[in-house]
Amino acid sequence: MPDKKSDRRSGADRRGGNPAARTGAEAVAPPGDRRSGGDRRDDAAWQPVSMEMASAASDSDLALLAAATDARTRAQAAYSHFQVGAALETADAVVIGGCNIENATYGLTLCAERVALVKALSDGHSIFTRIAVVADTEEPTPPCGPCRQLLWEYCGDIDIILGNLNGPTGRVRLSALLPMPFDRRLLE
Ligand code: THU
Repeated sequence: MPDKKSDRRSGADRRGGNPAARTGAEAVAPPGDRRSGGDRRDDAAWQPVSMEMASAASDSDLALLAAATDARTRAQAAYSHFQVGAALETADAVVIGGCNIENATYGLTLCAERVALVKALSDGHSIFTRIAVVADTEEPTPPCGPCRQLLWEYCGDIDIILGNLNGPTGRVRLSALLPMPFDRRLLE
């Protein structure tokens, strides 16, 4: 696995072969499987990604999780009451926090990850190494689908550090969460 710390390429340039694409195929339902929605979910489909365990967290992972935990305290989650914090790290070690911001239309909700990303981009940052995400859940709370898309587009194959209020819960590469991405390479 490449050392992400020394990989200073940004966004699309950080995308190499995607090993998760191979394992993703195992979760595909067999032909003729006519179950729908929740019925199509089984344990294999829920757990297609192998995550490093919390014990693998380094001091810098813990520091990034602490920044995400701090950002979470500013969550605007009056509707879901599900508070999330994120902390995005740039290649030059700047940390940008974000929290989820909900509103009365529900649909315009901004996830913590996207808030951190747009703050970073609008401040001129363009090369990212890791993002930490913290929620008050026993299981790891990973970025949602739209956030995975945007993180892939602007950050490339970064590391994602997941945690709850007690500490780290998992660590995973974005390519494992988004194994067959649509991105600008297909538009060229
Ligand atoms: N949310 C995030 O901010 N990030 C995630 O990774 C998952 C979901 C927010 C969106 C919404 O405000 C609340 O959590 C419930 O979905």
